[in-house]
Amino acid sequence: MALPELPNWETTPDDVAGAIRQVKAALRTRIDASGRTVEEVFAVMERRVLAEVEDIVATRARGEEVWPVVRYTDIANGTVDPATLELLQRRGCLIVRGHFERDQALAWDADIVDYVESNRFFETYRGPGDDFFGSVGSKPEIYPIYWSPAQMQARQSDRMARVQQFLNQRWTHEKHGVRWFDPDRDSLYPDRIRRRPEGANSAGLGAHLDAGTLDLWMTQAYQRAFRHLFDGTVEQYDPWDASYRTDGPQYAGTTMCAAFRTFQGWTALSDMANDQGVLHTVPIAAAFGYLLLRPLLSDVADDDMCGVNINKVFPVKEQWHAPLLDAISGIPDVQAGDSVWWHCDMVHSVAPVTNQQGWGNVMYIPAAPWCPRNEAYASSVREAFLTGSSPTDFPEEHYEQTWTNRFQPEDLNRTGRRGLGLAD
Ligand SMILES: [Fe+2]
Repeated sequence: MALPELPNWETTPDDVAGAIRQVKAALRTRIDASGRTVEEVFAVMERRVLAEVEDIVATRARGEEVWPVVRYTDIANGTVDPATLELLQRRGCLIVRGHFERDQALAWDADIVDYVESNRFFETYRGPGDDFFGSVGSKPEIYPIYWSPAQMQARQSDRMARVQQFLNQRWTHEKHGVRWFDPDRDSLYPDRIRRRPEGANSAGLGAHLDAGTLDLWMTQAYQRAFRHLFDGTVEQYDPWDASYRTDGPQYAGTTMCAAFRTFQGWTALSDMANDQGVLHTVPIAAAFGYLLLRPLLSDVADDDMCGVNINKVFPVKEQWHAPLLDAISGIPDVQAGDSVWWHCDMVHSVAPVTNQQGWGNVMYIPAAPWCPRNEAYASSVREAFLTGSSPTDFPEEHYEQTWTNRFQPEDLNRTGRRGLGLAD
């Protein structure tokens, strides 16, 4: 039986409240037409997610680590044990121990300091270019720096490529004869650096996710990607199915990510204790299904998507999502050279800290495999790389345009050239 079609908006709707009303009504009608009620469909997803919450709470109560932990050498040798792979599939996040040698990571951290100081960055810093991250005093915590030799060496390294390939392989990247992305080739998504000094106070970041905003319900590609949530086959919803994920646009806005990332991630450039304002997630890969269905229940106003709006990160709140928040789990202690990864649809937050002990330094490097969407973004990344500009996903700060000691095209290896689309 053919279900009623959904209305879709490929760019931000002019009348946002009207579009929400329209799409919610259509989603409810479509689910009803499948022979199930919205309440029934949501209850299936709720049971699935609450079973994970229960397991996470029990794991924590036993004093065990909630986050899956994998050694880099096991990834490199293909010897990650099946139980850990199964846990990773459920939790959707992991720590890679010894991804880089600790000395290598500390040397990169020192190189970044030399790089910015040699270019008088702290004297010329103009303040945060967006309102997403705050800064402390005159020195930023988030450096809008993209093209240091250290960052590019890490991005094009064999060790990074190997871990990204492992992470991409957690996804179903080929289905019904369509190859949605190439798990063996990354697009080197350039992002910033965080260096949070000893003694820092930070308010942290509230629980949110970065996968999108209203576009998650409103564009055709996303409606297809999340089809099982909306067509009465909710049991088949698979957070690891890449179908339709890699060609859809996101609505423009300061929080958008033009690329498709299988995992968000960062590499530690300092040792960090687990109580020093570190990353937390709701480590349940399927929780996103709960988040997408929750606004369809009758206790949410017809023009409200549980607070999700354009140009604002997708908020996760006590009011609508309380059961998920019981599962919030921080990373364990990490050492410089370890890396931290979480599924692109995953709820995450950063804990507050006062008088931080030790540094909190990371290089943001995700896994963004080659696909139509990332190939399109790579052309603007190439341009930014060649001119030392800020990539188009980020504020137009362009500090590095005149910095002559930035990473040069002749320093690219084959992985780097392929990532930028300069080689096949
Ligand atoms: Fe985020």
